[in-house]
Amino acid sequence: MKSEHRLVTKQPSNHPSQFDILVVGSGAAGLYAALCLPTHLQVGLITKGNLKTGSSSWAQGGIAAAIDPSDAPELHFADTLKAGAGLCEPEAVKFLVENASAAIKSLLEMGVAFDRQGEKLAMTLEAAHSRPRVLHSADTTGRAIIDTLTEQVLHRPNIQVISPALAWSLWLNDSTGHCQGISVLYQEQISWLRASAVILATGGSGQVFSQTTNPTVSTGDGVALAWRGGAVVRDLEFVQFHPTALTKPGAPRFLISEAVRGEGAHLVDSQGKRFAFNYHSDGELAPRDVVSRAIFRHLEQTAPEPYCVYLDLHPIPPEQISHRFPNIIKVCQQWGIDVFSEPIPVAPAAHYWMGGIVTDVHSETSIKGLYAIGETSSTGVHGANRLASNSLLECIVFAAEFSRLEIEPNVITEKPAAVITESRDWAAEMEVISSMRQDLPQLMWHSAGICRSQAALEDAIAQVSDWRFELAALEVTQYLLNLTPNQTVQLTSAQAQQQLRICAETLNLLDIAYLILKSAAWRTESRGGHYRSDYPQTSPDWQVHTLVQGESWSKSLNRGQLLSDASCTPGVTAQSAVTKYSR
Ligand code: FAD
Ligand code: SIN
Repeated sequence: MKSEHRLVTKQPSNHPSQFDILVVGSGAAGLYAALCLPTHLQVGLITKGNLKTGSSSWAQGGIAAAIDPSDAPELHFADTLKAGAGLCEPEAVKFLVENASAAIKSLLEMGVAFDRQGEKLAMTLEAAHSRPRVLHSADTTGRAIIDTLTEQVLHRPNIQVISPALAWSLWLNDSTGHCQGISVLYQEQISWLRASAVILATGGSGQVFSQTTNPTVSTGDGVALAWRGGAVVRDLEFVQFHPTALTKPGAPRFLISEAVRGEGAHLVDSQGKRFAFNYHSDGELAPRDVVSRAIFRHLEQTAPEPYCVYLDLHPIPPEQISHRFPNIIKVCQQWGIDVFSEPIPVAPAAHYWMGGIVTDVHSETSIKGLYAIGETSSTGVHGANRLASNSLLECIVFAAEFSRLEIEPNVITEKPAAVITESRDWAAEMEVISSMRQDLPQLMWHSAGICRSQAALEDAIAQVSDWRFELAALEVTQYLLNLTPNQTVQLTSAQAQQQLRICAETLNLLDIAYLILKSAAWRTESRGGHYRSDYPQTSPDWQVHTLVQGESWSKSLNRGQLLSDASCTPGVTAQSAVTKYSR
């Protein structure tokens, strides 16, 4: 299709083109970071859906904090390290558990209504916690937190919300390599927003798998654009599969919280028999990867039917079910399941991505001026397997550090960017993209899901590489990849914006699929969320992080191992172990 470019010199859309700080994402991490930033800074908060769209508002079980007198941060620390299967960074975990109490206090002060038992905060038990320490607000804890944070953000004069807007690429300074802003797709324009610092809080990547508890916005954008920009990313093979997502034809994989098992529900098979204890002495409350694999194995024995197991809530008194799980009751009812009289059909689904953009405890990445928080980051607190309810806590604890951020306010006064009108439409190419978008999650579920092997991973890498090549050759992709900084593009149709958005998300999904597959093929052992049927054992030689930068894969020691074993694993340099970004 022929392009019609026209140069116009008018001021682009109704938001400023420069801010002191840009925050990308409005989950718990992004909202809380925006609120913690010093109020003299002008903050642009960019989000792809509306302010409340994201995994955070779907969180059910709660937020972990060792605040009960019978509990202690040291116990929370030990549980987190144990779940993390040798890859947690002790310093980061210490920071997390020691700041948990302050994080909860701040949320309470803002008005989050956690459930209480009398005067005391109520706490539940979740898998792999040695104490009941999960605070909750019925089974909609995330909604309670996000509603409160959103309300606060909307009352902050220094925060400007830009939504729905898709952050597409980092804007790096040619000579220093520092991050100086981003490009965004917003109101039928592509513009370049300048800032002294950019905070990525774009959440996870569950949409790369066909079975996922994650919302549609979870397409791994932050990791993809940081990786393309040259940032160091880490441990991308570690994906947590939640054991119990609703599994009914036509229904979404709605999460059935672990708290349901924490309160006493049993996992049973189609014969009504409990089976979790056949796989682990902690039965239903064993770590998530163990329970997910137990279900996977159990179903394998009876394949092709049935395709699910069941969660039997009978052991929980009905009034407790009503009190604790009103939303689960409601959603199950919508799908024709009465949780009081019948078990809930469930199966595992991709839930959380432990890997992400490497950061230190101040959320700094390897690119100056670029920060990452929440699920998109790899702070080191989750290791190879996240302890339940530690991620909301991580969002709040790490975001709170932004109150100390010292940056030079963005004083550059730009001339208004030239505006180019773009009237192209890429409808003809969208079919190819749609079919990739549909097929990729199936491929990933079968090759990089609960059980992986070299052969399946290599086949998938070949297929994904072909798709990436095919996608890169399309005109719409070339258009996106060759956008020029500081030049605003005015699209002439909403359809073109939608096409660019789909293309951008598909590029991101393909990039992260490639990174997950390559990292999973590289790690020839099983650990935490990464299980290889051809390497079923955990190997001490692999108690290392997988670092990726561009096309280079390498190992870096984690601090936990360094502290317990001063000797270096062959092939891993001591220097890589102490690099700032492997903290
Ligand atoms: P999110 O909350 O996912 O927010 C990401 C934001 O980034 C969204 O606003 C999205 O629109 C935006 N975004 C993404 N890409 C772009 C882009 N390119 N441009 C602009 N904006 C973009 N954890 C717990 O600790 N306890 C729980 O009980 C719990 N329950 C869960 C239940 C479910 C169903 C799910 C899916 C997860 C649950 N988790 C839980 C995990 C936890 O909710 C998430 O890890 C955490 O909320 C992530 O927060 P976040 O702010 O990093 O990302
Ligand atoms: C759940 O409620 O089971 C999810 C908790 C979590 O992912 O931390």
